[in-house]
Amino acid sequence: MKNFTSVKDVDNVEQLVKEAIELKRNPFAHQHLGKYKTIGLFFFNPSLRTRLSMQKAATNIGLNVIVMNVGSQGWKIEFEDGQIMDGNAAEHIKEGAAVMSQYCDIIAVRSFPELKNRELDYEEKVLSQFVKNATVPIISLESATLHPLQSLADLMTIREHQITSYPKVVLTWAPHPRALPQAVANSFVEWMKAAEVNFIVTHPEGYELAPQFSAGVKIEYDQSKAFEDADFVYAKNWSSYNQYGKVLSIDKKWMVDSSKMVITNQAKFMHCLPVRRNVVVSDAVIDGPDSFVIKQAENRIYSAQIVLKKLLEYDQ
Ligand code: CP
Repeated sequence: MKNFTSVKDVDNVEQLVKEAIELKRNPFAHQHLGKYKTIGLFFFNPSLRTRLSMQKAATNIGLNVIVMNVGSQGWKIEFEDGQIMDGNAAEHIKEGAAVMSQYCDIIAVRSFPELKNRELDYEEKVLSQFVKNATVPIISLESATLHPLQSLADLMTIREHQITSYPKVVLTWAPHPRALPQAVANSFVEWMKAAEVNFIVTHPEGYELAPQFSAGVKIEYDQSKAFEDADFVYAKNWSSYNQYGKVLSIDKKWMVDSSKMVITNQAKFMHCLPVRRNVVVSDAVIDGPDSFVIKQAENRIYSAQIVLKKLLEYDQ
């Protein structure tokens, strides 16, 4: 694997998940791969899980780690080519990424969308400029439109705990007071499409995901109907793609609570976190025995670590 920016970088999704589960049993077995090498984690936006799990994974595999909140601590970076740089940006990505590549053997980047201009966000300007201008592998720590490390951890969690060979997995939109990216939902759809699962998405009308993700996916606008016989319920809010970045509904009826979960096949509740309690999900569900949110967060370590392993092996 040369870079890890989406499911498209993975040859065999199920094999990668299998290897991540194996790695979890023996996390320090590959320390030689990272010895004398450095990963740089560059954050344009906040993080708890991604930052800590990637540091832990990198340490497990023997890497030194540099972390920089580049959004608040670095020079403002220009990502457009050919600009007259007489504004706020003091550094161009051409030099920035080239210099980072002198200090790091792998570069990992988190950069959220602005949710103002759909075309600009879906161009993935920041991540693609890192890929273009760095001379080392690039990992997405969540980009404008995708969060592949999260989805790999989510699929890993499903595979570890499924009790049927073809589990029913439901991705449900849930309310939220603020406009959030579509990245987690887009990625989850991509990874579920690449996996052997019975997958369905439920959301209010107006929350359709981009066609490149929703194509071929079952959509059910009736949340209760979608929940019938579900083995896994994955809740996530996202803002509208069609009315880009807009919050069209905060309908509390879409919150995941116990009255919804009883419709399922004792489904496991999943969410990438952070989550707003009693807005997205009720206390009773997230605190209940079928809540998997902490297991997902734990698996963020091993999803990151298997990706590091593949990138370091590719480099050998
Ligand atoms: N799920 C996730 O990516 O969490 P953070 O935003 O805290 O990294």
